[in-house]
Amino acid sequence: MKLTARPSPPLAGVVRAPGDKSISHRALILGAMATGVTEIDGLLEGEDILATARAVEAFGATVERPGDGHWRVTGQGGFRQPAGVIDCGNAGTGVRLLMGAAAGYPITVTFDGDASLRKRPMGRVMDPLRDMGTRFDAARLPAGQTGGALAALDYIQTVASAQVKSAILLAGLNADGVTSVTESVKSRDHTERMLRAFGAVVSVEASGSGWRVRLQGGQPLTGTAISVPGDPSSAAFPLAAGLIVPGSEVTVEGVMLNPLRTGLFDTWIEMGADLTIANRRMAGGEEIADVTARHSTLKGIVVPPERAASMIDEYPVLAATAAFAEGRTVMRGIGEMRVKESDRIALMAAGLTACGVTIDEEPEGFTVTGGPVRGGATVTTHGDHRIAMSHLVLGLAATEPVTVDAPGMIATSFPGFEALMRGLGADIATSE
Ligand code: S3P
Repeated sequence: MKLTARPSPPLAGVVRAPGDKSISHRALILGAMATGVTEIDGLLEGEDILATARAVEAFGATVERPGDGHWRVTGQGGFRQPAGVIDCGNAGTGVRLLMGAAAGYPITVTFDGDASLRKRPMGRVMDPLRDMGTRFDAARLPAGQTGGALAALDYIQTVASAQVKSAILLAGLNADGVTSVTESVKSRDHTERMLRAFGAVVSVEASGSGWRVRLQGGQPLTGTAISVPGDPSSAAFPLAAGLIVPGSEVTVEGVMLNPLRTGLFDTWIEMGADLTIANRRMAGGEEIADVTARHSTLKGIVVPPERAASMIDEYPVLAATAAFAEGRTVMRGIGEMRVKESDRIALMAAGLTACGVTIDEEPEGFTVTGGPVRGGATVTTHGDHRIAMSHLVLGLAATEPVTVDAPGMIATSFPGFEALMRGLGADIATSE
């Protein structure tokens, strides 16, 4: 089955973004490490998260689903020996955070994932966890891990990665002494915020342009209530469509505005986007708001490379909107894109080129030259949800339809994407 997006009439409507993927993984994992009941509201029910839910169940937590998006995790105050392989599917966040969480318990675990996850680098998490005392029997998945007594670690990040920081902090929770992670560029801080919600003390001090996060080992976690805000990385797709389909006005409600996640919105505004942010309020310890995108005349800009960490998952959809901008949009310092669910630099370059867009690929970035967009291609996504959604959004404003292969993977992060987009008036439909 394939999915085709055709040039669409003006899009209009108010929709709600699915729950944030980063926060959903963390709520399940911390709920399982904690003692007692954690009630989660608005959990993302995407494939990545369902894999993490199955994993924490295998580690001994009781997981119930009393209603849509409402999940209850009853933790045992630690992980138990699981019976089988922990299959994290497509989820890099799931496996890396679970490796950190499992490290402090005397259990032996085999982690695995799909073909994409088996190719992704795990050394970035395994190396620091090994320094703390964990054993691994392979450098990539499938990999066996034996945990137990851990020594605290002072770690200086070499790549800006919230997954690595989080894995070390979760291991540090059960280590002997104070563990710290120093980042020269701040990465998303959902783990730190959520650890506090579960009763742990996490301290943060400035360190150059970044920060140093510290946590004392041996702190117990207590179950709590977590309300998951809307995912800005998913909201980006209907909003992008609103910006590029002439005559559109699209509102996404309840979008999380954590400043370490909003680089795309800042970038679009600099490009001249008519983006309004209203009704700012707090939910689940995060600021949320309703974001409206109206069709806009965009102009190309140089995206500051230091912004990369706050929008690393958004460059594919930014590239799709840049294709409609006047002039060149330069995106650099994004080499990490090559080790996501796919090599996103290569796939965006191939996909946009097939759609008639001028895109110059570099080792650590690309430049898109905007103009009228032809479309008229079938794009290979290598099973990457964001590559699929980015090209479908582009197809709504192109001259000819755009088709993506294997659209099933969209459900890893955005179940209901097709229906939500159709509800706004988008011409997206299954095709042969
Ligand atoms: C995530 C961190 C980012 C991001 C991923 C989710 C997280 O990865 O790309 O989708 O939840 O911590 P890195 O930490 O590898 O940059």
